[in-house]
Amino acid sequence: MGARIVGTGAALPQRCVSNAELAGSVDTSDAWIVQRTGIRTRYLLGEGETPSSLGVTACRRALEAAGRRTEDVDLLVVATTFPDMTCPGTSAFVAQDLGLEGTPFFDLTAGCTGFVYGLAMAGAYIAAGLGERVLVLGFEALSRVVDWSDRRTCVLFGDGAGAVLLERGSSEEGILGVSLRGDPSKALLLHTPAGGTRRPASHATVEAREHFLRMEGSGVFRSAVPLMREAMDRALHAASMSREEVDWIIPHQANVRIIDAFADRLGLPRERVVINVDRVANTSAASIPIALDEAVRDGRIRPGHAVVLTAFGAGVTYGAVALRM
Ligand code: UT7
Repeated sequence: MGARIVGTGAALPQRCVSNAELAGSVDTSDAWIVQRTGIRTRYLLGEGETPSSLGVTACRRALEAAGRRTEDVDLLVVATTFPDMTCPGTSAFVAQDLGLEGTPFFDLTAGCTGFVYGLAMAGAYIAAGLGERVLVLGFEALSRVVDWSDRRTCVLFGDGAGAVLLERGSSEEGILGVSLRGDPSKALLLHTPAGGTRRPASHATVEAREHFLRMEGSGVFRSAVPLMREAMDRALHAASMSREEVDWIIPHQANVRIIDAFADRLGLPRERVVINVDRVANTSAASIPIALDEAVRDGRIRPGHAVVLTAFGAGVTYGAVALRM
């Protein structure tokens, strides 16, 4: 039994913010951001917007593309690092707004690798015969958790959501190989010090700005290429597929320099790599499904194409899925 993607959808906030606009409030410049990251714009939620509503829109679009209704969904998996509330999970709000009744739902936290982990779990759920269709959503509202006075992080991220509907199919189609990995020795490369149960929010933690995301950028940067490479090669091996057979690679969209180095070291032609980080910035767990949806809708990725999704993120988690559309 296999599981294949039968519909994709994405949603971005309305407000598009340029580097020049950010440079008006943070000590940075368009030139620095473009040279170091390739990012030119990002989409940010407005003050009154509810983050999970983006996820609901992405799910609706994926269902519509698949020609399915909410009643057809057997499981909802929401990959997100920063939920709407710490309890309950964002999946409860997404399920509520979609009108799911009795359908199981859960959040999955695996940093920027969350969507890849979620897709693999959804495929395993279907393969185990537990359901026929799983909606997998990658969703983040990073603008609400970055420190807007910290130029080392705030310029890098954007908000967004991307979803796929995974449906039972034959074993020759859909997900063909998976590799999920982790390196917990790097757990603090990306972290939010306070607000969890280890260090609950207090006046002191808020004053020390410990409820904002912190990142050791160069440590993450150095790890990114080898980790994505290892995961991709393992997933291709599991799929009995060579790099040459892959039509499209969708790496996590964190930084154009990371994507370029990844493609160069693996000898992958840039025309086969999907890149949108220049426009949407790093949307963490949403980055791969947003890029996938763009490439499906503009006709680059077509039925029958072999695609590899590969990511790394907080944890450190990393992983890849090789599939046939
Ligand atoms: O999704 C997974 C999570 N994140 C990532 O994947 C991010 C991975 N890391 C990166 O993309 C890069 O490490 C960054 C883009 C974050 C930083 O690039 P870098 O080339 O590693 O720069 P750096 O951190 O070594 O900083 C170089 C200089 C520093 O100044 P000094 O100490 O040399 O005077 C920074 O203070 O650039 C400064 N700087 C900035 N300057 C202007 C850092 N951020 C900015 C900024 N604008 N926004």
